[in-house]
Amino acid sequence: MTQIRSIIRGTGGYLPERVLTNDDMAKIVETDDQWIQDRTGIKQRHIAADDQLTSDLAVEAAKVALSHAGIEAANVDLIVLATTTPDKTFPATATAVQAKLGLSGGAAFDVQAVCSGFLFALATADSMLKCGLFKTALVIGAETFTRILDWSDRGTCVLFGDGAGAVVLTAERAADVGDRGILTHHIRTDGTKSDLLHVDGGVSSTGTVGHVRMLGNQVFKHAVTNISSAIKAVYEEAGITSDDVDWFVPHQANQRILNGVAKKMKLDESKVISTVALHGNTSAASIPLALHTAVSDGRIQPGQLVLSEAMGGGFSWGASLFRL
Ligand code: UT7
Repeated sequence: MTQIRSIIRGTGGYLPERVLTNDDMAKIVETDDQWIQDRTGIKQRHIAADDQLTSDLAVEAAKVALSHAGIEAANVDLIVLATTTPDKTFPATATAVQAKLGLSGGAAFDVQAVCSGFLFALATADSMLKCGLFKTALVIGAETFTRILDWSDRGTCVLFGDGAGAVVLTAERAADVGDRGILTHHIRTDGTKSDLLHVDGGVSSTGTVGHVRMLGNQVFKHAVTNISSAIKAVYEEAGITSDDVDWFVPHQANQRILNGVAKKMKLDESKVISTVALHGNTSAASIPLALHTAVSDGRIQPGQLVLSEAMGGGFSWGASLFRL
């Protein structure tokens, strides 16, 4: 049987126009710029306009990724969208993206793994391409996360923002692409820890959307441990060490988590892509946004090895290794 590898052909990102700085947040809750920067590294976050839906953000990021890849939307036969903030309870927001891109064939569906959603979506799309089900995939992380915030809870509302990021994957014969492509994933969940980071509402529980609730310092402790174990798993699978990694593109939740993981895994600071200052935690959108930033500004070059990781509600966590 021909071995197939998924190749990342293009990246895209989109941040809504409206920006709330830390000083703006201090007008909403009892906080200040210094606390937010010291504890999280965040300087500002973007907020979707009232008439912008998650699918609108996703489409903007998808268009950039398709243009970067030089691939027409008509070629896309799979859309996997990671989101916690869907347009509607059903149908999947991915189908709204499909329609807005003028597509009616192939398959489009959502993946829900909160801040780890992009890595879960990437693993899903990669697996489907590898087994020959589809040829060209859009993998998107998109969130209007600020719509589920409790704007009176300073422990959460200062942390999150809205945005979207995307990649285009194509299925190629492994023999034709050298060592490029998605190499391995490790994704895990632990449902027994869900109370530490969750939303206090839902269709079948309260009939409401609910708001984010988080015991931040407890999540923080688990984050560094779980992320590090996922990274070790992908290293072992690929037979590499931190020395082999060219770039580290982590989920952008907190600069202190990024630093803690990099230190624990002996990843040099110069390899870390950090965009958390500019958009805060955009949940499933943060990894593809950071990836797109570093590809666009020329830091990440074709052929380089990228390590990514995330941890979020569920708990869910994971790591991925890919060579652009
Ligand atoms: O992406 C999904 C995964 N999520 C995460 O990875 C988030 C993980 N957690 C974190 O990033 C951090 O725990 C936070 C940034 C949320 C909080 O930082 P912390 O250093 O763990 O602070 P803390 O929760 O232990 O709170 C320390 C103090 C408390 O005051 P007291 O009890 O010491 O008087 C809080 O009330 O900071 C206070 N505090 C604030 N002060 C000013 C909490 N939020 C704020 C705020 N401004 N916005």
